[in-house]
Amino acid sequence: MTSTSEHREDEHDPFGEFDRSQGAGAVRDPYPRFAELRRRSPVHQGTLSSVTGFVLDIPSMGLYGIKPEHPPYVAFSHAAVERVYREAATFSSKTPESMGMELVMGHTILNMDDPEHRAYRGLVQQAFSRNALARWQYELVRPVIDRHIDAFVRRGSADLVGELAFSFPLEIIAALLGLPEADLDTFHRLAVELLLIVTDIERGLAASQKLGEYLGVIVAERRRQASDDIISVLAHAELDGQRLSDDEIVAFLRLLLPAGAETTYRSSSNLLFGLLSDRAQWEAIVADRNLIPQAIEEGLRWEPPLTMTSRTCAQDTVLEGVPIPAGSEVAPCIGAANHDDTRWEDPDRFDIMRPQRPHLAFAFGPHMCLGLHLARLETASLLHALLDRIPDMRLDPEAEDVHITGLVFRAPARLPVVFST
Ligand code: HEM
Repeated sequence: MTSTSEHREDEHDPFGEFDRSQGAGAVRDPYPRFAELRRRSPVHQGTLSSVTGFVLDIPSMGLYGIKPEHPPYVAFSHAAVERVYREAATFSSKTPESMGMELVMGHTILNMDDPEHRAYRGLVQQAFSRNALARWQYELVRPVIDRHIDAFVRRGSADLVGELAFSFPLEIIAALLGLPEADLDTFHRLAVELLLIVTDIERGLAASQKLGEYLGVIVAERRRQASDDIISVLAHAELDGQRLSDDEIVAFLRLLLPAGAETTYRSSSNLLFGLLSDRAQWEAIVADRNLIPQAIEEGLRWEPPLTMTSRTCAQDTVLEGVPIPAGSEVAPCIGAANHDDTRWEDPDRFDIMRPQRPHLAFAFGPHMCLGLHLARLETASLLHALLDRIPDMRLDPEAEDVHITGLVFRAPARLPVVFST
């Protein structure tokens, strides 16, 4: 996805670079390989890249000067992945401070175990409850989406990824945080550059510092004078006499920009691709909007935007028959778990009518996605807006080879559609 970087003086394209590091353009459909591996064993020794054979442009932990003492493992079956997420005392979220995302985001909720995680989550989740978000749906979410549609609705054609899905989730988070609109492009770029720590440490660290300085000033302002936004809620949240420090809030905000934007843009693009690739399913939701919630869940099951996360084994254990020593990294493969054929019939098929069973796109257990209500609300608003305004849209028949791509983060690079005006 390169659209916003084309007219910049700095030719560096963090969006394209990040996509490539995640296998975009190189990995088209990892699901048959996941299925084959899962049939052989629910858990394999190696990294996602080494066991699947898909070569990724992501350096190993050696990049950070850390040589793992034990070999890593990947969990492929639904039962194994669910257990890794559920048993947080055995499968720890802590990573060394000198490593990976902690290096650029600071100490975030993603890297905490209990009791620290429970206390921290209790404080920040006040801002993300379904009730807290409901009021934003009409005031904020729908207007952001409508603004994008206004820009192309009279043209009769559009790229739904580049012109809509790519930027609306970030704009919504920025508005929820009360960040100035003029800074949006810079934010989006810095949020993705943070993630580039996996390929370009210097750039990742520079982005982290710039974001930290900027956000620190806003947090201090909101401490002095609360406003109607999430940063104010965080600055004044209190639980059992505990409050968040400035560093804790800034680390959370650094996480929120990529966590909320990269995922939701991809999941809504994947869902639109699924619906538009099978006209009957698009027509079904045109005829009956009550199908929207199950269409969203099926999209998340079928093509989760993030196919893998990571844990570290805190004690020796046996996972689905495979012994794993303490200290080993264990990667729950959400993509493989969501396509487990012992749980879903014909799992590689996108079918909004299939019997609904909980999927793992938002993970599970104590770290289950904090933004899931927001993600669902944003995606439902997106579908309602498109169904209200351009229900006859279809994939451009002239566009060649539109498809979802990537190994860890997945999305279509573009989604060209045509419609009547
Ligand atoms: C479809 C969209 C989304 C997907 C698929 C998704 C997926 C995930 C997953 C898999 C995790 C667990 C990570 C782990 O345990 O290692 C997670 C955690 C998290 N997500 Fe999301 N996410 C989405 C949208 C959002 C949004 C919109 C926000 C906020 C604006 C958000 C904020 C968070 C936060 C703060 C955590 C950390 C929770 C914790 O560690 O307790 N996510 N998400």
